[in-house]
Amino acid sequence: MNTPMDIASLPAWRKAYSGDGRLLLEDALPSRDPFKLFDFWFREMAARKDELTFEEINAVSVSTVSAEGRPSSRMVLLKSYDDAGFTFYTNYDSRKGTQLAGNPNAAMLFYWPKFHRQVRVEGVVEKVSFEQAEAYWNSRPVASRIGGKASAQSTVIPDRAHLERRKAELEQLVAEEGASAASKPKTWGGLLLRPRYFEFWQGQSDRLHDRICFSTDRPDAGSADFIHSADRPDWHMFRLAP
Ligand SMILES: Cc1cc2nc3c(=O)[nH]c(=O)nc-3n(C[C@H](O)[C@H](O)[C@H](O)COP(=O)(O)O)c2cc1C
Repeated sequence: MNTPMDIASLPAWRKAYSGDGRLLLEDALPSRDPFKLFDFWFREMAARKDELTFEEINAVSVSTVSAEGRPSSRMVLLKSYDDAGFTFYTNYDSRKGTQLAGNPNAAMLFYWPKFHRQVRVEGVVEKVSFEQAEAYWNSRPVASRIGGKASAQSTVIPDRAHLERRKAELEQLVAEEGASAASKPKTWGGLLLRPRYFEFWQGQSDRLHDRICFSTDRPDAGSADFIHSADRPDWHMFRLAP
């Protein structure tokens, strides 16, 4: 790159925050249970999906840490969430999978620009049951199953033709033996992030953004007066300066 890209000098493409009166005030939260609050936000987003700037509101960044303590991030598609946590599907032998096997701590980051919202979720990841992974695998279109099976995710491969050969072999096998030939690979499955920390961030036009957090760890004693109890046992609610 000969000329550095100075993004600040480009015409602003970011529209001014409309605000829309979406202040996040402790006393006006739909719930002080972070799981319920996430559900409230997610459903609000889903209901107004057509207005959003990108359609995959369930696309989420997942960050993991290597054995050397080096962080890495990638997007995945969130497939479900409930009171236990947040589930996505992947290859356990991938880079993220091996990093999580060594260090199960992970962070998820949702960003919904049209609503000026981000949600940070941090916690510990575990594998979902074989039965759950298989049920989800079998619910996917055969073409996706073939694609998933054709790729030893995160391994170095010689070229694209390598993948296409593998895909053609599997397509042939499925044509001869039926969809069962595209069975779930042993190394493919679901990962459930069990949260210990949530942060709900609501952007404001005056930059006094709202940051409402929930944690199973109590923040430091100096701020004791500002810690609220959450609508969930063992969780604390507090506000961070933006
Ligand atoms: C929007 C989006 C959604 C994605 N969803 C998934 C997913 O659900 N599971 C997955 O394994 N990879 C998904 N990927 C690909 C990952 O970002 C990544 O390339 C892959 O998982 C390998 O990452 P790793 O080498 O760090 O393990 C997605 C990528 C994008 C851009």
